Amino acid sequence: MTSDIKHWWQTGIIYQIYPRSFMDASGDGVGDIPGIIERLDYLTSLGIDAIWLSPIYPSPMADFGYDISDYTDVNPLFGSLADFDRLVELAHARGLHVILDLVPNHTSSQHPWFLESRASRDNPKRDWYIWRDPAPHGGPPNNWQSFFGGDAWAFDEATGQYYLHLFLKEQPDLNYRNPAVVEALLNTMHFWLDRGVDGFRVDVIWLMIKDEQFRDEPDSPTYQPGRPDRHRHQHIYTEDQVMVHDVIRAMRRVLDGYEERMMVGEIYLPYERLMTYYGTGLDECHMPFNFQLIESPWSAEIVRGLVDSYEAALPTGGWPNWVLGNHDRSRIATRAGREQARVAMMLLLTLRGTPTCYYGDEIGMVDVDIPVEKWQDPAGLQQKDIKGESRDPERTPMQWDASPKAGFCPSDVEPWLPLAPDYHAVNVAVEEGEPGSMLHLFRRLTALRRGTLALVHGSHRSLNASGNGVYVYERAYEGKRVLVALNFTAEERTVEVSAETLSGDILVSTHLDREGPESLSPLTLRPNEGIIVAVGEV
Ligand code: GLC
Repeated sequence: MTSDIKHWWQTGIIYQIYPRSFMDASGDGVGDIPGIIERLDYLTSLGIDAIWLSPIYPSPMADFGYDISDYTDVNPLFGSLADFDRLVELAHARGLHVILDLVPNHTSSQHPWFLESRASRDNPKRDWYIWRDPAPHGGPPNNWQSFFGGDAWAFDEATGQYYLHLFLKEQPDLNYRNPAVVEALLNTMHFWLDRGVDGFRVDVIWLMIKDEQFRDEPDSPTYQPGRPDRHRHQHIYTEDQVMVHDVIRAMRRVLDGYEERMMVGEIYLPYERLMTYYGTGLDECHMPFNFQLIESPWSAEIVRGLVDSYEAALPTGGWPNWVLGNHDRSRIATRAGREQARVAMMLLLTLRGTPTCYYGDEIGMVDVDIPVEKWQDPAGLQQKDIKGESRDPERTPMQWDASPKAGFCPSDVEPWLPLAPDYHAVNVAVEEGEPGSMLHLFRRLTALRRGTLALVHGSHRSLNASGNGVYVYERAYEGKRVLVALNFTAEERTVEVSAETLSGDILVSTHLDREGPESLSPLTLRPNEGIIVAVGEV
């Protein structure tokens, strides 16, 4: 049997770059496209297959680029369209695919479409956004809340109506019940696909359609005071509406008109709802992002449970994926600790499905505690009294070396967010020179994945019964088997990894000091150790 897994987005590893924070070539303290180009050797050396760039478009930066004022250009802060074309060309020459962030749900309030829309009630673009009259006794039309705190409605004095913004008031939501808006989105996709972009990560794709009757959302029974306003309600009218699937199918048809392009949708939903975004007949997202590793507590038993339930919920032919970190969530080395971050990386790179890795996680970067006067993220600034809402800590500059600004920007320039205090010790240059570093582990794992058919094409089976903080699973392909045993605890653990095989060849340990034949009956894992073992030939 040969594998039917053949697309680059199935066999490859995706690496997310937050352009503001990756590499500053222009010397203004903010990363840019020429900076990414400078670091292409590094990116290639990681053994990844695709880079996804968070938004690079013109934007007033109210939400750091997720508020777009022109969908078909590059923000001068990041470079020019010519720089972007060069990046695509150079990346392709190295076999790296380029995925752009597509942000269709909302534009910037400075986008010409919105400026027109708000100009008058009878402007032809009025219906491109979501305008409603005030409630009968005044105030917002309904109880919908913004993800960043407060009402999701802003009043426009000049025209006497409210417009909807599920995020900042500077990010008005587009109206995808209007076919002209869908068409404009499809045109944007063509623009970038024609320039050679390999795919899109689609921002908040599950929010793109809202209830046609604008009903109030019911209270959430689990809401606790002091939590974000958005948690007050159950989102049955602002999320996951049936008609969104029509829009996604239209997007998919555009992609299918080109060779080997893809989209991965940002969707925070439980598995049974998430799966509907593959589409009946697999005609929607190539992959709906699977965020469970980000959302769940770090424990062997919990991870085992979510891997099994994910595998069981996947539709026939639906290709799995796993995400360990992104620009909206606390970093893995902070959530799980530095030692466990190595175990987590082994998990990410050996599970069945496409892994997505967040920049800096490959060297073990942690969240940076940022003094309040230096906060940048509007989600944090608008909800200052709620702990953990700022996303600045996971967005700090990439740590390249031990020089004054960590090699991110010139030494006399202030980076847009502070550097991690430990950057002298945790950086690419230092880790290059340490054979046991996280960086070397990352490269070892990506190389192993690339060279081991079972890890890419193989089936997945959870093996050991849960209970002792260890998760063991098997990846198998054409009679070849690889076992992965992960110790989620800081204590030594002994496990029976295989009933069928008494010994195997250790291919790699997270500690990078253990290889070769070993007994599996039982197998001893050191504290925070994960190992990959070949049983039989691989
Ligand atoms: C997505 C992005 C996040 C952004 C929001 C609004 O969740 O990942 O960074 O703030 O959408 O665009």
